Amino acid sequence: MKKLVFLTGAGMSAESGISTFRDSGGLWEQYPVEAVASIEGYYRNPELVIRFYNERRRQLLEVTPCEGHRLVAGLDSSYDVTVVTQNVDNLHEKAGSHNVIHLHGELMKATSSRDPNNPSCIVTLPEDSLDIHMGDKAKDGSQLRPFIVWFGESVPMIEPAIMEVQSADILVVIGTSLNVYPAAGLLSYARSGCQIFLIDPNDVNFDPSLPIRHIKKGASEGMKELIQILTCSNPI
Ligand code: OAD
Repeated sequence: MKKLVFLTGAGMSAESGISTFRDSGGLWEQYPVEAVASIEGYYRNPELVIRFYNERRRQLLEVTPCEGHRLVAGLDSSYDVTVVTQNVDNLHEKAGSHNVIHLHGELMKATSSRDPNNPSCIVTLPEDSLDIHMGDKAKDGSQLRPFIVWFGESVPMIEPAIMEVQSADILVVIGTSLNVYPAAGLLSYARSGCQIFLIDPNDVNFDPSLPIRHIKKGASEGMKELIQILTCSNPI
């Protein structure tokens, strides 16, 4: 089976009704990113940050995967698929994707403030008790915090993601402005001969030396076009 790796960003979930970050009207226009998505912001005002992610989590329960998520999941049966996502939502999993690497954490999980990547402190929040409160404790006794990788923190899942990209036959980038590293640097690990596609309705700044075929459409329409191309050029 050919190995197909997706790298997805906020645009993947835009058609599900979740705002992107940097488009006009995006989340970072409404909230100062350094206040709600950096480790310094969390130290300065943990209550504000916890409330911000409580709101995002409640919003996530109201949305469902879009056709694009479902088309990505549908390829699991014909390819060896890994989805590397910068998104903290669980819409790839809800659509049926089995192999998902979350680079920036997971909204439905909480962890320790002292040791956020300690697996024994990471818990999934039950759907009937979604909010984290000040005073809630992780297993190590520290304040429970969202399991999100904030600016200023390390990205432990980048290593497994690099290994996936290095062994990909086909790499498909969907809905990311490629502004945030190390995720944006993953493209440079594609081996020569790897087919690279980009699905995004807008222009995206990428290394012009990479042989990228840009499908200038939204995630769902773009996935339909990608599947047509794959079916013609890579008969399964
Ligand atoms: P951005 O908001 O930076 O980029 C979203 C991309 O999605 C843009 O290139 C849009 O053109 C594209 N887009 C918009 N609508 C789309 C659609 N219907 N279908 C496909 N693409 C569409 O989001 P990311 O690149 O994901 O990190 O942002 C990366 C990281 O920055 C996030 O994970 C988050 C943020 O700060 C943290 O919070 C740590």
